[in-house]
Formats: sequence, C-alpha cells, structure tokens
Amino acid sequence: MKICLFGASGFIGSNLALRLSESGAHEVQLCDVEDAKLRLRFENAPFAYEKVDISKDTDRVDELVRNADLVFDLAAFVHPAMFMSKPLDVVKLNFFDCLNVIQSCVRHNKRLIHFSTSEVYGKTGGSDASFKENETDLILGPIENQRWIYSCAKQLLDRMIFAYGVEQGLNYTLVRPFNFVGPLMDKFAKNWDRSDNPRVFANFMSSLVYDRPLQLVDGGQSRRCFTYIDDAISALEAIVAHPNEMNRQIVNVGNPRNEATIADFAQLMADTYVKHFDPSARPVIKSVASSDFYGKGYEDCDRRMPDISKLTSIGWQPQFGLEETVMKSMQYFVQNKTRLVELLGE
Ligand code: NAD
Ligand code: UGA
Repeated sequence: MKICLFGASGFIGSNLALRLSESGAHEVQLCDVEDAKLRLRFENAPFAYEKVDISKDTDRVDELVRNADLVFDLAAFVHPAMFMSKPLDVVKLNFFDCLNVIQSCVRHNKRLIHFSTSEVYGKTGGSDASFKENETDLILGPIENQRWIYSCAKQLLDRMIFAYGVEQGLNYTLVRPFNFVGPLMDKFAKNWDRSDNPRVFANFMSSLVYDRPLQLVDGGQSRRCFTYIDDAISALEAIVAHPNEMNRQIVNVGNPRNEATIADFAQLMADTYVKHFDPSARPVIKSVASSDFYGKGYEDCDRRMPDISKLTSIGWQPQFGLEETVMKSMQYFVQNKTRLVELLGE
C-alpha cells in the first residue's frame, strides 16, 4: 500500500514512519516542513522525505494525496503554551490548513487517518466516567480561556470529517491520542520559555537534566493517562490493518491503567532520574500558578480517562505500565542528549 504522512517528522510521525517502513509492506512517503526527527529515528537507513508545507504547497499536497492509498494527517501545533501565546496560528494550521489535506482526500476518494485529540473532550464536568467516543459530551470553558482554542479547532474539524463521511462518502478514522510519551517527544528546553514550553514529560525531563525545579501547574492535581509511544504505534498499525471495522470511527488511543496526577508523575520522574541516571541529582518539585506558567486564560482538563473498547475489540491492548513508560522514555533522552540537542536545538 502507498501511505503518505503529513507532519511525518513530529513525535508520533517519526515513530510511526519507522515502524511502517520497517514492516516492509508499504511504500511510505514522508512529508513535513523539516526532517530532523526522521533523521534521528532512521539513523542511517534511507527514508522517502519531501519538504511539504501544507499551508503553502496545496497543489503538491493534492498530488501526493492522489498518488496515495492511505493518508495520515499529523501536522499541527500541539503545545498548550502555544494555545495561549499564538492562538490564531493554532487555528490556522490545525483547522484551515489540515482542512486542505482532508478536502484532497474527499476529492480523490482516499482513506484518511486524521489526528484529533483527547483534548476535544475538554473537562469532565465532575463525572468519573471514562471518555467514550460516541457518547461523551465535549465540555469546554469560556472563550476568554484561550486554552480551549486548540480543542475547539480540532473539534470542528472532527465534525467536518464526520460530515464528509455522511455526505460525500469519505472513508476515515479519527484518532484521539491520550498523552503519548516516548523517544522524540518534543525536545529539551534549556531555558524555560512561557510562550513555547514543551509538553509535560519533556518539560520535566529538561528540568531534571538542566537542574531546574520541576514546576507543578496549580499544584499538579490534574490527571492524565500516559501512553508509551510503542503501544500507540501498535494501535495505529491495528487501525491500518482493520479498514472496515475502523472506517468512519472515532477511536481513543490510550492506556487507562497508566493514570497519574501530574504531582505523582513528577515524583516518579524525579525518583527514576536519581535512581537510574544521576544519583547525585537533588530534584526540586514546586507548585506554580497557571497564570505565571502559561499566562492569563489557562484552564485545565482535570482528568482524561479513555474508554478503549473499540481498539480492544480488534485485538489491541497496551503493554507498557507507567514505570516502564517513564523509564524507557527517560533512557532515550539521557542516552541521546547530545544528538537531540544538535539536531533539535534546546
Ligand atoms: P508534533 O508537534 O511532534 O508533530 C507535528 C508535526 O507537524 C511537526 O513535525 C511539524 O513540523 C509538522 N508541521 C507543522 N506545520 C506544518 C506544515 N505547515 N506543513 C507540514 N507539516 C507541518 O506533534 P505530535 O505529538 O506528533 O502530534 C501529531 C498529531 O497528533 C497532531 O495532530 C496532534 O494534535 C495529535 N495529538 C498528539 C498527542 C500526543 O500525545 N502526542 C495527543 C493528542 C493529539
Ligand atoms: C496536550 C495538548 O493538548 C496536546 O499536545 C495533546 O492533544 C495532548 O496533550 C495529549 O498529549 O493528549 P496536556 O495534557 O494538557 O495537553 O499537555 P501537557 O503539557 O502534557 O500537560 C499535562 C498536564 O501537566 C497539565 O495539567 C499541565 O498543566 C501540567 N504541566 C505541564 C505541569 O504541571 N508542568 C509542566 O511543566 C507542564
């Protein structure tokens, strides 16, 4: 099968690209605005990369979609700090530019796997129930809380993809990732920057390596289910391999057994770092107000617990527990620090 990935050099894209290529079953075309993570992931193995900016190269995007059997759309701005500092850029890329890719899939009748987000569910509204793709209400805060702009842009695109399926027969799967963690997630941030700091694992990893305090936003009582990237990629492979069962489905990808508060996650990372990587380290964990960390307009998703029955029904189960997820992810960053900084900056 000919598979085309947009956003292929991101965290998920680079890990997925390697696995799809290694399977030998597919011809894989990798498109992004840059290829640093692909170079890191593939090391010396060859890969088919083309520099394609989905916001500008619309004719080329259309050609690439026409030539493919399956299209993955992974291109997005994903850091919560950016939802606050550059909300219009987030909507432009995550909604309007991705819409071009989706419309090409409609035009050429191509199967699409589009990346939505667990953040679409928003807040729990006090419920303890896990998030179900076809049942759970999507609860976002007021407009002035700009944190929700990413969720809202992604939600509108989800609704349009659904409508393209109903009205024009688009074959698609909407994937909702729940806090994937692992090699090549974001990057080290030597100096913490409010406008573009990475997601929580990379933030804490940077703090440990550069001997800065790990910062718990508003005390770190929100909860997440951390999913090891290898489990996530296996789920994506299962989705690719079950086109009929997964067609016109929204699918949560996450590990419900790996739930932790952010405070507990920080403690686990700090303990793991001292025990396995730097016995002389003395990590400090401190609480910080969200208004200082992200600026005005931040509001959190209090809990994200996925219902994964759609994926278990096709035989997928996550394999990596929380300790192993943290250990393996940290190991990659520590062992590859020099190369990561060289290729991705810090
Ligand atoms: P990422 O930031 O690592 O990757 C995004 C990629 O998109 C980057 O390589 C970037 O260069 C590329 N890109 C940006 N602008 C582009 C453009 N104009 N044209 C082409 N490519 C462009 O993010 P990720 O974690 O790999 O996420 C991939 C997708 O999954 C996104 O849609 C994201 O919203 C979604 N998602 C991810 C997670 C997660 O746990 N990682 C969770 C929820 C949703
Ligand atoms: C992110 C973004 O929505 C998307 O990238 C993606 O859709 C989603 O993760 C996902 O991975 O599923 P969020 O989980 O809030 O959302 O982002 P993180 O930056 O990973 O933050 C997780 C939690 O840790 C939040 O409660 C945040 O306030 C907290 N945090 C973050 C800290 O306490 N300290 C930090 O240094 C960073």
